[in-house]
Amino acid sequence: MSVSLSPSPSRMAAAAALYAKVKGAIPPIEWPIYADDAAAIEVLKKKHDAIILGHNYQTPEIFHGVSDIVGDSLALAREAVGVKASVIVMAGVHFMAETVKLLNPDKKVLIPDLKAGCSLAESITGADVRLLKQKYPGVPVVTYVNTSAEVKAESDICCTSGNAKKVVESLGVPEVIMIPDEYLARNIAAETNVKIIAWHGKCEVHERFTVANIREYRKDRPGVIVLAHPECSPEVVAEADFTGSTAAMSDYVSQRRPARVVMVTECSMADNVAAMNPQTEFMRPCNLCPHMKRITLAGIRHALETMTHEVTIDTSVATRARVAVERMLAVS
Ligand code: 13P
Ligand code: SF4
Repeated sequence: MSVSLSPSPSRMAAAAALYAKVKGAIPPIEWPIYADDAAAIEVLKKKHDAIILGHNYQTPEIFHGVSDIVGDSLALAREAVGVKASVIVMAGVHFMAETVKLLNPDKKVLIPDLKAGCSLAESITGADVRLLKQKYPGVPVVTYVNTSAEVKAESDICCTSGNAKKVVESLGVPEVIMIPDEYLARNIAAETNVKIIAWHGKCEVHERFTVANIREYRKDRPGVIVLAHPECSPEVVAEADFTGSTAAMSDYVSQRRPARVVMVTECSMADNVAAMNPQTEFMRPCNLCPHMKRITLAGIRHALETMTHEVTIDTSVATRARVAVERMLAVS
C-alpha cells in the first residue's frame, strides 16, 4: 500500500505544485492523503515517458491532479491516436484501455486494475453479435465503445454517446443493429428516422435513476437544470432539460453557466465539473460506478512502478476491431 499520511518534505514540496491543480475540488486538509502518491506519479511519468488518460468519472485527485488528457470516451479515443509517449496509463475502465491499445498497437498501454470492467461490456459477446448478424442479414452493426475488442471485431462501426446519432445516420441505411445499450439505442431511435434493433444491455449506474428522482430534484431545488447521460432510460431522458455525453454535460455548464444544476450520471462528474465552475451550485446525487472506482492514485503509482497491467489484444481480433473504431473516428 503506497498511500502515506506522512509524506517526505521533498515529496510534499513537489506535491504543492500539484495541489494548485486540484484545490477547487480537494480541501487542503485532505491533500496530504494524496500528496505522496501524486508527486511519485509525476516522477514515474517522466522516468517511463508515460502519460495518463483520465475519464470524466475519475475522482478529482486523478482527474485534475495527475491526468495529462481528460475527457469523455470519444475525446480519449481521439486523443489516443498517435500519442507521443511510450507508455499510456488508462485511468478509466478496461474497454477504454483496449480502445487506446487498438489505436496505438506499438505502445505499452497499462490499466491499474484489470477488474475495472463495465456492465455494458459484460452484457454481450462476439458469439452474440454473430447470432444477431445471422438473424438480421445485411443489417450493419453499430457498436457502442463500451464493449470488448472481441465484440468490436464483429462490428461494422463503433460509436460513443457523443457521436451515436451521427454514426447511425452516416451509414445511409434504413435500419441498423445498435449494441449493447438498450437505453442508448432507444434514445437515439427517438432522434432519428433510422430503425434501430437494440440489445438488452444496461449501465448499472444510469439504470438506477428514475423519473421520481428527477421530480424530487426539481422539488428540492426549484429551477435546477437537469442534465442526463443517454445511458439513462428514455423516460428519465424525457424528464431532463438536456441529454449528452459526459463531455457535452460538462460543456453545457461551462458555456451556459446555469445557477443550479444536477448531473444525472456518475458521482465524480459533478465533483470534477464543479471545481471548474464555481459560479454554479451542484446538486450531487451519488451513483458510483464500482468499476471506475477501482482506479486509485495508489493503483496508478503501482502500475507505473511495476509496468502492470499491460493491455494486450489478440492480433486477429485487434485488426478487425481497429477498423470499426477507425471508421467511427473518420465519421466524427
Ligand atoms: P462518455 O462517453 O459519455 O464519457 O460515457 C462513458 C461511460 O462509460 C458512461 O457511463
Ligand atoms: Fe460502464 Fe456504466 Fe460504469 Fe460507464 S458508468 S463504465 S457504462 S458501468
